[in-house]
Amino acid sequence: MIQRIKNIFRSSNQTVDCIVLKNATIPYVDDNFFYVTNLEQGLFEGSCAVIHSNGTLDILVSELEAESARKSTARLIIYKTKDEYSTALKQLLSSFSTIGVNASGLSYFEFNKLTGILPNAKFVDVSDGFFKARLTKDEQEIQRIKKACEIADETMAAIPDIVTDGMSEDELAAEINYSLQSLGAEKPAFDTISSFGKNSAEPHYGHGNVNLENGSFVLCDFGACYKKYNSDITRTFVFGKATEKHKEMYETVLQAQQIAFQAIKPGVKAGDVHQAVQSYIDSTKFKGKFIHSTGHGLGLAVHDGIGFSPDNGMELKENMVLTVEPGVYVPGFGGVRIEDDILVKKDGLELLTKSPRDFRELG
Ligand code: GLY
Ligand code: MN
Repeated sequence: MIQRIKNIFRSSNQTVDCIVLKNATIPYVDDNFFYVTNLEQGLFEGSCAVIHSNGTLDILVSELEAESARKSTARLIIYKTKDEYSTALKQLLSSFSTIGVNASGLSYFEFNKLTGILPNAKFVDVSDGFFKARLTKDEQEIQRIKKACEIADETMAAIPDIVTDGMSEDELAAEINYSLQSLGAEKPAFDTISSFGKNSAEPHYGHGNVNLENGSFVLCDFGACYKKYNSDITRTFVFGKATEKHKEMYETVLQAQQIAFQAIKPGVKAGDVHQAVQSYIDSTKFKGKFIHSTGHGLGLAVHDGIGFSPDNGMELKENMVLTVEPGVYVPGFGGVRIEDDILVKKDGLELLTKSPRDFRELG
């Protein structure tokens, strides 16, 4: 992971003697800990990583995580008690006067503990270094995301056979999660969304004790987390016979996604991709019904770095991984979203999720 660490130091506008990543308990565990250690298993609550500009690192972990930690090439220090932890951290950091922290992944509570252990050190925020280094993915990251996408595709392919008349959104979500894990996912990438009918008009709805009825949208949005890397896919079906309105909504979103695919290539501003999609949807009868950004970066985090948001002037670069997920949402009726994961390539993009996108009636 030498290159990743060097990139972090090079990418930050700050100059520091070393960088410390300090984890608390979930959800306050910094995913950059996994970025720099390359560890695939373990929670690493209460662990710490000290990274150096030459690409090496020390990690400080409790006995609970020691076995998992040995799979990393980092120098390892194991602590048993809180006192041992503080003493070891002080020793690791005592020769440095300017220490970088990732302020966007560090709670104020943990930061205060750090300054308490090292009252004379100067702490500087180097979160820009992590953000910029992670915008483009290296080969290993891409391979993991691809595998996460394959698992998601295979799960999506099973959905038409899983969906049955009267089943609940809760049951469908459970089936999706079961499939993801049986196919090798560590866990679902995020809380699976399986929404029926008018619930599909809420982009971040979830699932509930609602039974499937004929003529309803079935929106499935989920992903696999594989070796800490995520995929994110959405397909929207109709259960039973679709109406013209269902089909029109679907065709509008499908066309919007094609517009995004055609616009994506290195050098294009992320915000311009969104504007192209937004203008198209606003030129149809679904004007004003596209209510979120066109997509987001994907990697160790499900929402990872750069996104296709209206005001993002950042240019796309080769080896960025993002989602493309236009949608239209009609409150009281339902919503359609079609989401795929893409890798930015020299001349355009590679689709990482490959599930069919044709309009489909189930049942
Ligand atoms: N797939 C959920 C989201 O992107 O927010
Ligand atoms: Mn998404």
